[in-house]
Amino acid sequence: QLHLKTETLGHGFHLYERIDSTNRLAMEFLREGAAEGTTILAEQQTGGRGSNGRQWESLPGGLYLSVILRPQLKLADIFQLTLVAAFGVAQSLGRLTGADVRLKWPNDLVIEQGRRLAKVGGILTETRIQGDRLAGAVVGIGINWDNPVPAEAARLKPLSRRDLDLAPVAAAVLLGLEQSYQLWHQRGIERIVSGYERYLVNLGQAVEVPGHDGQGRIIGIDERGALRVLFLDGGEALVMPSELRLGYAL
Ligand code: BTN
Repeated sequence: QLHLKTETLGHGFHLYERIDSTNRLAMEFLREGAAEGTTILAEQQTGGRGSNGRQWESLPGGLYLSVILRPQLKLADIFQLTLVAAFGVAQSLGRLTGADVRLKWPNDLVIEQGRRLAKVGGILTETRIQGDRLAGAVVGIGINWDNPVPAEAARLKPLSRRDLDLAPVAAAVLLGLEQSYQLWHQRGIERIVSGYERYLVNLGQAVEVPGHDGQGRIIGIDERGALRVLFLDGGEALVMPSELRLGYAL
């Protein structure tokens, strides 16, 4: 039992002990017309999808869920959804656990361990496009809660001030996502950008950008989710996720 505090998200709820990928199934439900807020949660995934075509290792103990959203969005603005989700999930996990959960651009949830970032979760947004409009989207959220993780990653449960099982974590994440989604509708992307930047661990980091001379510094993100990089000569570059991968060293 989830004890939801949300208005919409999670109200259509499907729970699986074991499935290939909650995102894959959610995309199928989306095509079949499932309502906004429909949520799929799996205790284990055998073919979890990560970003950039990678696999998402999904052993029992972690949180694996996907939510169907149907926002009115121009195709050019699709990336806003990932910002909305990342901000909402980071905020909710911080509040729930007391841990300093931060965002590594664009869609990683991390905690700082000395000079290194350890990944505690990630977000994978998939979209369905019909003609020139967005027909719907699936926001997939994976959190390393109490599952076995590789040495460079981390689990959140041991960092939490409260000893929680997965149900309250799922409820908190859904509430955080919903609050961020509502904030976006009410106050616009500017409010989401400033919220996201509060959690962005990469602020001030020096980076090299393909096609630009010398190093620049990360000063924030723009409304499409592009990274804003400022160079010494005063020039600024806007970098899309496909153009630059940030590492896990600070
Ligand atoms: C990343 O690579 O950082 C994104 C990982 C997203 C994983 C989640 S787990 C639930 C949902 N279903 C999937 O197959 N992937 C996402």
